[in-house]
Amino acid sequence: MKRIDEEIRKMKQELGSSLVIPAHHYEMDEIVELADFLGDSYKLAKDCSQTEAEYIVFGGVSFMAEGAALLAKDHQKVLLPDRSAGCPMAKMIDAERAGKVYGEISKRCDREIIPMVYMNSYADMKAFCGARGGAVCTSSNSVKIVKHYLDAGKAVFFAPDYNLGVNTANALGIKKEELVTVKRDLSLEGGDPATAKMFLWDGFCYVHTTFTTGDVDRLRKQYPDIRIIVHPECDASLVDIADHSGSTAMIYNTVRDAPPGTTWGIGTEYRFVERMAKEFTDKTIVPLRESICRDMSKITLDKLAASLRSVSKAARGEESVLDCVTVPGEYQKDARIALQRMIDIVEANI
Ligand code: 13P
Ligand code: SF4
Repeated sequence: MKRIDEEIRKMKQELGSSLVIPAHHYEMDEIVELADFLGDSYKLAKDCSQTEAEYIVFGGVSFMAEGAALLAKDHQKVLLPDRSAGCPMAKMIDAERAGKVYGEISKRCDREIIPMVYMNSYADMKAFCGARGGAVCTSSNSVKIVKHYLDAGKAVFFAPDYNLGVNTANALGIKKEELVTVKRDLSLEGGDPATAKMFLWDGFCYVHTTFTTGDVDRLRKQYPDIRIIVHPECDASLVDIADHSGSTAMIYNTVRDAPPGTTWGIGTEYRFVERMAKEFTDKTIVPLRESICRDMSKITLDKLAASLRSVSKAARGEESVLDCVTVPGEYQKDARIALQRMIDIVEANI
């Protein structure tokens, strides 16, 4: 075992139940091995909302840590070992631009439009949705939450991931002409705004938009029995020809529960695919191609150890200032409402 790894384990032991380390599936193996819980964005948000630990040191990117900070109780502190670990897609929209286009489309649409934002966003956007009756969603529940609003006779303004929006619309049988794309210069394309059911912001994830239908064709030629599973941040043309699509947790569980001897081609972050290949040795697991999330890789053992050293000092009363993830006060209430609304809809409390 590496020295740094030993030091982290020792600090974890000393801090006991006052510390939790949640980690996303895309984190590097050495971080995942030290995590207390692992999951997709929804599971991480929910598990964080249920822990009583005083210190939450997040293995993930800033929107995830911010989500944990929003759901945290007064005595809890959230740390991200590298504050620059972000998500380029989350930055592709902000409340100011959303407000401008929301006013415009609301005037043009026959139905009331509810704004819905992917978890991969910052607190200003979550607050924008919370204040207007909308909710956060993740890739594991976007279909359920969009359906919730459509069933109530509303239209949905969905941001920032265009592909997740289209894939959600397709899963719900929404027609192409009922979709309007909102370009980042705020122009509108596609269907008629008056009768549209979904307005989709045109953000994207560079990790998932590198996969092509050609990758699937190549693997199907190489492995005739292969089953293809992709994340819904991939283009709809890939989701269409894949055997399954879903969140990282859904991908993990599907591959884990598949019969031994099966072969899987996976369209999501490469390190996660590699880890499944090492864990499920009774199956053949291959990536569609090697596509890495550079921000998830910013959480290294050294940075995790540095965060835990400051937490240990704070717990001993030797350090009073911790570099905690905080949410500007103006966004807290409404962003929390949007996050809690997601949890309530998913857990069927409303
Ligand atoms: P999941 O919610 O499926 O884990 O996705 C998070 C993410 O950032 C995928 O790129
Ligand atoms: Fe953001 Fe894409 Fe990385 Fe997910 S994989 S955190 S969407 S950049």
